[in-house]
Amino acid sequence: MAQSPVLRCLTAPGNVVAQAPFALMCGLARKLRRLPVMNMKTVFEFVKGTLAGQNQFASGGLLLMIVGAIGVYVRSLPLRLWSWVIYQTTMMLTVTDDDTAFEWVKEWFLEQKFLKRVRWLDLDTSLRGDEAALIPAPGSHRFWYCGRPFWVWFSRKDETQGWTPRRLESLTFRTIGRDPKFLKQFVQEVIACHKRKITLASYLYHFDDGWRYVHAYTPRMLDSVILRPGEKEHLVEDIQTFRSSDERYRRLGVPYHRGYLLYGPPGTGKTSLVSALGAKFGMSIYAVNLTELNDRTLKVAISSVPANSVVLFEDIDCMKAGNRRPDTGEWADKAIQPLGNEKADPADRFGVTLSGLLNVVDGFHAPENVLFVMTTNKIEALDPALMRPGRIDYKLFLGKAAHVQKIELYRRFFPEISQDEASEFVESHFAETMAEFQGLLLSLEQEQSRSEAECEEATALV
Ligand SMILES: Nc1ncnc2c1ncn2[C@@H]1O[C@H](COP(=O)(O)OP(=O)(O)OP(=O)(O)O)[C@@H](O)[C@H]1O
Ligand SMILES: [Mg+2]
Repeated sequence: MAQSPVLRCLTAPGNVVAQAPFALMCGLARKLRRLPVMNMKTVFEFVKGTLAGQNQFASGGLLLMIVGAIGVYVRSLPLRLWSWVIYQTTMMLTVTDDDTAFEWVKEWFLEQKFLKRVRWLDLDTSLRGDEAALIPAPGSHRFWYCGRPFWVWFSRKDETQGWTPRRLESLTFRTIGRDPKFLKQFVQEVIACHKRKITLASYLYHFDDGWRYVHAYTPRMLDSVILRPGEKEHLVEDIQTFRSSDERYRRLGVPYHRGYLLYGPPGTGKTSLVSALGAKFGMSIYAVNLTELNDRTLKVAISSVPANSVVLFEDIDCMKAGNRRPDTGEWADKAIQPLGNEKADPADRFGVTLSGLLNVVDGFHAPENVLFVMTTNKIEALDPALMRPGRIDYKLFLGKAAHVQKIELYRRFFPEISQDEASEFVESHFAETMAEFQGLLLSLEQEQSRSEAECEEATALV
């Protein structure tokens, strides 16, 4: 039986396999050299010529290549077709953990009925701290939402992110349909769920390559922070007015944020007051440590603070950015150099510059509907640009403990004691600040509890 030229060539005795590609390439190269400028017709002619040509290696190899390519293509057809159908009939939504909305989606899971049926769960303390929450585990899950099937794919990378123990996580939702309105509605529900949550409670976050929930945080109660008469009430009223003036700010075209500066000696209640205000208004606190950030990361951090939050810059005088600019020197220099120290060591370049800070507090990158709160022990060290209205709109000095403040704190510790007795105690015990006075009361209370316990023990023995 006559063999085809291709088969003959491939099965010929002495056909060294290693020679075939070389011969094939030589044949093709020879033909290509002879080709004039190629168009589709000449390509076709070339292929036809090669297939029917003299060089059996070249024509056999080319035929095999074409057959192989067609085979691969045909085999991938069902998958391609399936992907095309899926692409045409479904919608997808992805959220990664470097976005604040990632936490919101997790929170939303907790409110869903289908969670009861999910059998692969993940224990999560990033949402509710000690009240560990159960959310769907990494992997694929299905549920029904508004009469449509939803698939969610929760992915978590095995490798950690740089030097942090964090592993990249993402959530991908897919549902049937082509109308993006439905996905927008889904997102609105997630946002609404988040808003419900934040108006109920106040959480503390710190920035570490993304906002991280601080587990060991308990907000203060406002009545546990004792200021001079009227101070607290006035501040609360100011915040209330701001929070209800959303429409007015917009109408007037004024950026909707407000800056507060709490200043005074250490231990006078600045941090406690911020915590208490957060709790009073159900606003979470986003604490920024400017020494750990640079201008770029600060911008990222502040722009991802959700509305209705407090952005807290603690001890702003200790941070280079907050410092007063030296009297000599030009504005332009200051905008690009770390503040107050032109010969700064290289590590300082990682700090935030004054212009970086000013921009996020009241500039192009300032977020809307947030309270900026700064605390300091040295107001005189702050740059006037930071203190101008729009950046600091309300200053409150928390000074040394007044007589009335001490009496009120004493009566919180010992409610059974009369006003006169409390006053007598305050007069006979020296304490400059409320922190010092609180220390005094704590040891007194401890002593009292111990003697009461001893008394009870003695009575029991008799
Ligand atoms: N006005 C106050 N009312 C009630 N407690 C106070 C008050 N001031 C201070 N304290 C108590 O003193 C301690 C220190 O308070 P806090 O940390 O708020 O002071 P601070 O002004 O932020 O100090 P620093 O400037 O050192 O940061 C807290 O335990 C708090 O309970
Ligand atoms: Mg403090």
